[in-house]
This record gives sequence, C-alpha cells and structure tokens, in this order.
Amino acid sequence: MADVDAINVFNITVRGSDVVAPCPETERVLIALEQAAPFPKPKPVNVGCRKGGCGACRIRVLSGDYTTIKMSRAHVTEAEEADGYVLACRVFPASDMEIEPAFLTPHERMEMRKAERD
Ligand code: FES
Repeated sequence: MADVDAINVFNITVRGSDVVAPCPETERVLIALEQAAPFPKPKPVNVGCRKGGCGACRIRVLSGDYTTIKMSRAHVTEAEEADGYVLACRVFPASDMEIEPAFLTPHERMEMRKAERD
C-alpha cells in the first residue's frame, strides 16, 4: 500500500557546476543547495538573508516546475518572474529542476532597470 504522506524528493541541477542537490518538495531550493555543498566547497548560489529580501540567491529556472512564496520585487520583478527568475530561498520544487545563478550586483540591477525604462 502506498504511503499517502510520502514526500517527493526532486533533484536540483545547477548549470555550470557539479552540484546536484536532492530537495524535498517541502524544502526551499536554497537550503537544499547549501546542504549539497558543505564547507569548504563553494556554494553554487550566493547565500544571504534566506528570507527573500536581499537578492543574493537570485537564480533563473531553466527547466522544471516549482512554487514560490513572497519575494522582494526589488530583486525579481513580475516580468522577470514570468521569465523564470526567482529567489532560491523562496522556491519549492514540484519536479526535478535545472537552474543557473543570476545574482545581480546593485550596479547591474540599476543598469538593467534603466535599460527597461528606455
Ligand atoms: S538569501 Fe536573501 S533573498 Fe534569498
């Protein structure tokens, strides 16, 4: 008999790195990535506040399904979110996923916003 309370675990692959992080559907992608790359191994994605406010963990989802919880629009606009950009600390997998880091420095963010307005 199948366990109806079983939690699915998905693989998070980081393009450009050798990290493949197993991530339960109930865990945030950033936490799974941190656990898959323990010190002193370099983190495949930047880590900051872990609360959706600093933008350090900004990624782009290249494939896979996921759900998100509230994240700062200063770091991911609605248009960017529609294009797959999210904050890894605010994302839960719903399938295997491939991601790539997409951190922007404050200067890069300012230049991007300026280009969007022009
Ligand atoms: S770690 Fe700060 S927004 Fe994700």
